[in-house]
Amino acid sequence: MTAVGIDGIEIRTGKLQLDLAETFAPAQDEDPGKYTEGLGLHASSFPDVYEDIVTMGANAAHRLMERKGLTPADIGRIDVATESAFDNSKPVSTYIAGCLEQVYDDNFHHANKGERKFACISGTQSLDDAYNWIRAGRNRGRKALVIATDTALYARDDPGEATQGAGAVAMLVDEDPGLVELSTEQGFGSADETDFLKPNQQFPSVDGKRSMKVYLARMREALEDFESAAGDTHPNDYELVPFHTPFPGMVRKAAALGYRHVVRDTDVEISIAEEIGRQPRREEYKSQEQYFDAVKEYTDALTETERYQAWYADAIEPTLEIAREVGNWYTGSVHVARVAGLKQALEHDRAMAEKKLLVASYGSGAQAEIHAETVVSGWKEEIAALNIDEQLDRRHDISFEEYERIHDVHNHDTENDADAEELITPTQEFVFDGWGRMGERKYRYVR
Ligand code: COA
Repeated sequence: MTAVGIDGIEIRTGKLQLDLAETFAPAQDEDPGKYTEGLGLHASSFPDVYEDIVTMGANAAHRLMERKGLTPADIGRIDVATESAFDNSKPVSTYIAGCLEQVYDDNFHHANKGERKFACISGTQSLDDAYNWIRAGRNRGRKALVIATDTALYARDDPGEATQGAGAVAMLVDEDPGLVELSTEQGFGSADETDFLKPNQQFPSVDGKRSMKVYLARMREALEDFESAAGDTHPNDYELVPFHTPFPGMVRKAAALGYRHVVRDTDVEISIAEEIGRQPRREEYKSQEQYFDAVKEYTDALTETERYQAWYADAIEPTLEIAREVGNWYTGSVHVARVAGLKQALEHDRAMAEKKLLVASYGSGAQAEIHAETVVSGWKEEIAALNIDEQLDRRHDISFEEYERIHDVHNHDTENDADAEELITPTQEFVFDGWGRMGERKYRYVR
């Protein structure tokens, strides 16, 4: 069977950064430790006044196409995953295709375009759609462009304001991929939940604490389902485990739960039993509550073991390095985690070809999905081609007053965003260019 997977990835961050410990925490009268230690975040990315989900997505896709020597005729489908869409009918992929057509001679008239919605998991669902399209033999040799793009903004003074972010990830899905091959096995954990939603409103209604519980519950279900399809998992099977990362502190909790689940009944459980005992089993406890207390106690002890900490340092920590600097990118977040892990592997000369990743996606509402990927031999060139470090270094560090203004500019209820004063002069990129006669957003390429 021909390998199908991700051939190349580009990341585009919003061009502004809000320092959470230095700028945001003091203004909110909070301890910086909540951000740096508790949530595990240093900064959030924000879009400058001329950036939005279309410009970030188009700029990421443009760099990817240029790097891969592609023109629109090579692309058979464009799927955009977002939970920040500003149009309930016309998909963001049409706006992005319109941008790209400004800089290419040919067009995307024969590409199937769409938009996927399921909170943060829709980026992974779009990858699935692209994979299935190629596997079904409907691609006629063409490639799919999957773009996950979001401005993850919360209402001012909502607790979620601590975890904001803005950026896009563009992925090229193709046969004989250059980065990772996707597995056929998947596991799902899905239930009708009310933890995070935007019923016809821009900023989310969030029950933050509940969303964290739902994340863990659905992830556990997805892992069980994955094992029923792919067989039992073992921590040694996977070199990196990129999780959906709304903030690194969430992944700290999810990783402990996942590890506990995966090592149950394995040599690992036996070898650490001398130190912390065996894992609690439900049948050993009279009530559910006693069992949960015992599980919590065991998990706390587990995360203190050298064995767990070594695994966490190798398999999880590298995947969080970009998220700490950019915050939550919703649909792009798990894909940023994959890139961060591979980037760190490249920097530390880790051998990754033929190694496996276990990718754990999540979207509120709620659904988790787990699948495996195999890193392929071209991975180093793909990761070395990224310019995310330069983009992060070039970000403008905003003051709290600038943050307040930028948040207002991106609030759909305010009207003056086309004339708002920019903080970084745009160059060689797509920018928002005001409104059209039917209320559509317009874009142009700045040379
Ligand atoms: N030093 C170290 N850690 C600190 C601290 C300090 N000074 N102050 C707080 N913390 C820790 C807290 O103990 C907590 O960690 P824990 O959960 O391991 O106990 C963490 O920092 C966050 O603090 P908390 O008081 O719980 O923050 P909050 O009430 O403002 O809410 C969220 C945090 C994540 C619920 C909120 O930001 C939110 O709603 N986010 C959006 C929804 C989301 O991202 N959900 C995730 C699933 S998709």
